[in-house]
Amino acid sequence: MGKSAFSGIQPSGDMHIGNYLGAIRNWVVDYNTDESIYCIVDLHAITVPQDPELLRNRIRSLTKIYISCGLDINKVAIFVQSHIKEHAELGWIFQCLTPLGWASRMTQYKEKSADKKEQSSVGLLAYPMLMAADILLYQVDGVPVGDDQKQHVELTRDIAQKFNREYGEAFKVPEPWIRDSGARVMALDEPTKKMSKSGGPNNAIMLLDSPAVIKSKIMKATTDSGREIKFNPEQAGLYNLLTIYELFAPGNPTRPEIEEQFAGQGYGGLKKATVEVVVEGLRPIQEKYAELSKDEGYVEQILKDGADKIRPIAAKTLSEVKQRMGIG
Ligand code: TYM
Repeated sequence: MGKSAFSGIQPSGDMHIGNYLGAIRNWVVDYNTDESIYCIVDLHAITVPQDPELLRNRIRSLTKIYISCGLDINKVAIFVQSHIKEHAELGWIFQCLTPLGWASRMTQYKEKSADKKEQSSVGLLAYPMLMAADILLYQVDGVPVGDDQKQHVELTRDIAQKFNREYGEAFKVPEPWIRDSGARVMALDEPTKKMSKSGGPNNAIMLLDSPAVIKSKIMKATTDSGREIKFNPEQAGLYNLLTIYELFAPGNPTRPEIEEQFAGQGYGGLKKATVEVVVEGLRPIQEKYAELSKDEGYVEQILKDGADKIRPIAAKTLSEVKQRMGIG
């Protein structure tokens, strides 16, 4: 009945409320213990071209976001993937173990390489095997992520089971931990697609957006022309706004309570109230972020301590894997 968690985010753009509601908030609420490990997956970010200076800054910025959102640095380990070389090494071993058919079925790979198969990097195809290495190195119980990462966690399980079958039990097989609400926050301007780091200017609310920007994005959010305020998944835009309201509203109101609260108010009332709860919900995160930005040395120290704490676990797993495979 352990509860050790591993999860990570790519430092490939500004963080949005989808990353927060689908992942980070659940880490903070449910898995903020000294058994949990949170990674900044810079090696995954370079599967597509990155500007070096921007990438370096984003790694530090994401570290500050993790802490500002409430991860307890006295308990969890926060580290940068490339600081622990075992990730790349086990990733390679998994590339050799994984059938090409499994890798090429991954939805994220198909989407990201869709119209540019010949130009996209080999790393983009190998991406999920590196993710499996991230997770399996630390022998954790589960992986708290948003819904879009479920397929990758399932592949991770398949890879662990294949290795255990062929070479003997070296890996714990982890569970995907995905919450019902917030696991798939949709784009404000196109609510049939998920909110993403790389969408247009009104796609996502960023965690560091000012109140004025949050207001403008929510007021412009796409909804249909109905009037009744109900949690109906068929009405994608309305459903998305209601879900965002639900997750940010203080006091954890139930869905029937929310529907009752907005009865007869029209979409304008819901949008205004959503602006309010999102601005208030992000305020403490933004304040903490500003405070952390005054001392960049502190952030470097946290990343160093995080890597130092968990490196022995990674080294032990990799050494067992190599021994079982007859390499080294
Ligand atoms: P990434 O960087 O795309 O996203 C980070 C986390 O945010 C969640 N997420 C969302 N949740 C709800 N609604 C959305 N619109 C939304 N968009 C993103 C993602 O599900 C994820 O939990 N492959 C991973 C990074 C990774 C990783 C790992 C995760 C690498 N190694 C090991 C867990 C464990 C990724 O690209 O996430």
